[in-house]
Amino acid sequence: MARRKVTVVGAGNVGATTAQRIVDKQLADVVLIDIVEGVPQGKALDLAESGPVEGYDSKLTGTNNYKDTANSDIVVITAGVPRKPGMSRDDLLKTNYEIVKGVTEQVVKNSPNCILIVVSNPLDAMVQTAFRTSEFPKERVIGMAGVLDSARFRTFIGMELNVSVENIHAFVLGGHGDTMVPLPRYSTVSGIPITELLPKETIDRLVQRTRDGGAEIVALLKTSAWYAPASAIVEMVDAILNDRKKILPCAAFLEGQYGINGMYVGVPVKLGSKGIEQIIEITLTMEEKAALQKSAAAVKELVGIIGV
Ligand code: APR
Repeated sequence: MARRKVTVVGAGNVGATTAQRIVDKQLADVVLIDIVEGVPQGKALDLAESGPVEGYDSKLTGTNNYKDTANSDIVVITAGVPRKPGMSRDDLLKTNYEIVKGVTEQVVKNSPNCILIVVSNPLDAMVQTAFRTSEFPKERVIGMAGVLDSARFRTFIGMELNVSVENIHAFVLGGHGDTMVPLPRYSTVSGIPITELLPKETIDRLVQRTRDGGAEIVALLKTSAWYAPASAIVEMVDAILNDRKKILPCAAFLEGQYGINGMYVGVPVKLGSKGIEQIIEITLTMEEKAALQKSAAAVKELVGIIGV
């Protein structure tokens, strides 16, 4: 099999850590690209130089030229500005819209058959920007948010119950923002719903901490998170490159599913070599449906501002 190629656009915190996790797992050769000169080259070289010690031989390329990204299997877009304390993801809208649009145009010219994973925030509006700009089929334009939000929820459940996070599955639906919809009924410890294990007040507290999970990190670091976001991206990259058919919450373009039409929102999907191979519709209670609709409305408002 030919070596696989993943391009990561944006060699900042999220991009560089993503590159690191991809080569650590020997998933593919990686091209890091950024507008800043020297940074992608320096980080790629530094990562290549840890290969002999870590035991990977993935090829690493750092560049400012999209020609080097040609024929990538997957392109991960992390380019953009991150949050500062007090900012919501939505405050990044206009700046990151211009960046994601420009990046997507370049990516598409050079890798017309790639699968796009969008990470820049506000996530749902940015993935929709990439979808419209690329004119790719919807299966090949995917947003990363749900895996991260679920990982945060799983972490908090694990801390609360003092059990291994390996045993914990959690689902978070909706937009990647304050209105996201963690689903306790579908969040389990070795198959046992957490609603059987924890009182409602505790679950409510963990749900709120999950919603505020990004902001909690921003308050501490004065910029947004990168380790867990990179892990979430790489789980999706692995599912696609290795055709794993994993069921993961991702931002997908909905056409009627969950009563939502013509926009990106986080839902459970099956990820394999073709990208989004299926959107899975689970039954929701009235309350959960209402929360998802509210979240979709928040996304719609943002998407309306940039007109994508
Ligand atoms: N093309 C390529 N790279 C760009 C462009 C562009 N047009 N514009 C900005 N960049 C690069 C910056 O030079 C920087 O190296 O994107 C990188 C962003 O890195 P950081 O500032 O470290 O931000 P990071 O924490 O990685 O977050 C990136 O992901 O999680 C989201 O909200 C976050 O939107 C933000 C994005």
